[in-house]
Amino acid sequence: MKIRDSGMPEKSYWESLFNIPLIIEHMNIQKDINKIVEFGCGYGTFTIPIAKFISGEIIAFEIDDQMIEEADAEKISNGLNNVTIRKRDFISEGTGISDNCVDYVMIFNILHHDKPLEILNEAFRILKTGSSVGIIHWNFDPKTPRGPSMDIRSKPEEIQRWVLNAGFKLNDYTIIDLPPYHYGLLAYKN
Ligand SMILES: C[S@@+](CC[C@H](N)C(=O)[O-])C[C@H]1O[C@@H](n2cnc3c(N)ncnc32)[C@H](O)[C@@H]1O
Repeated sequence: MKIRDSGMPEKSYWESLFNIPLIIEHMNIQKDINKIVEFGCGYGTFTIPIAKFISGEIIAFEIDDQMIEEADAEKISNGLNNVTIRKRDFISEGTGISDNCVDYVMIFNILHHDKPLEILNEAFRILKTGSSVGIIHWNFDPKTPRGPSMDIRSKPEEIQRWVLNAGFKLNDYTIIDLPPYHYGLLAYKN
């Protein structure tokens, strides 16, 4: 089931809405990380720069054929062999990844699913103990040029509550500012 309000605008416009290097830095994605899983990679806006940056691999799940084609094309044109884009509905099928084997999970611009715990529980299951989930989301501000409609857009405090309900721990309650339009949260599996 495709997550509500998860359609994408034109690629160059979408990619103009983020400061990608800042997000990679502030979301604590380390160069020597071994295995990252991404829920819903879209165009590969973050997948591709992260694959270039890390020494390990990134497995990205995506449901939409056009997105898969575009992300795969980027992977090929960048000569990357540490990226796998898997066509899969992670809501109805999960990721199919074994328990406790992932070093970082990315939940970027996708947690406006009506049952966010379905995503967070799956992230918790596949992460190794001590490893982190990074969540970024649109600011709770109707002036952002994109993002889910305000009636389904989550506030940072709400996401913190869900993350705790899924069993994660928060390092602290810091909400990471990711200008111009996003915020981030980091939590880990204890
Ligand atoms: C709003 S986009 C965000 C893409 C990427 N994370 C980013 O921040 O650039 C959400 C993506 O998740 C994909 N998606 C939605 N529901 C999904 C599902 N159930 N399984 C896999 N992918 C899904 C959509 O097709 C879309 O490409």
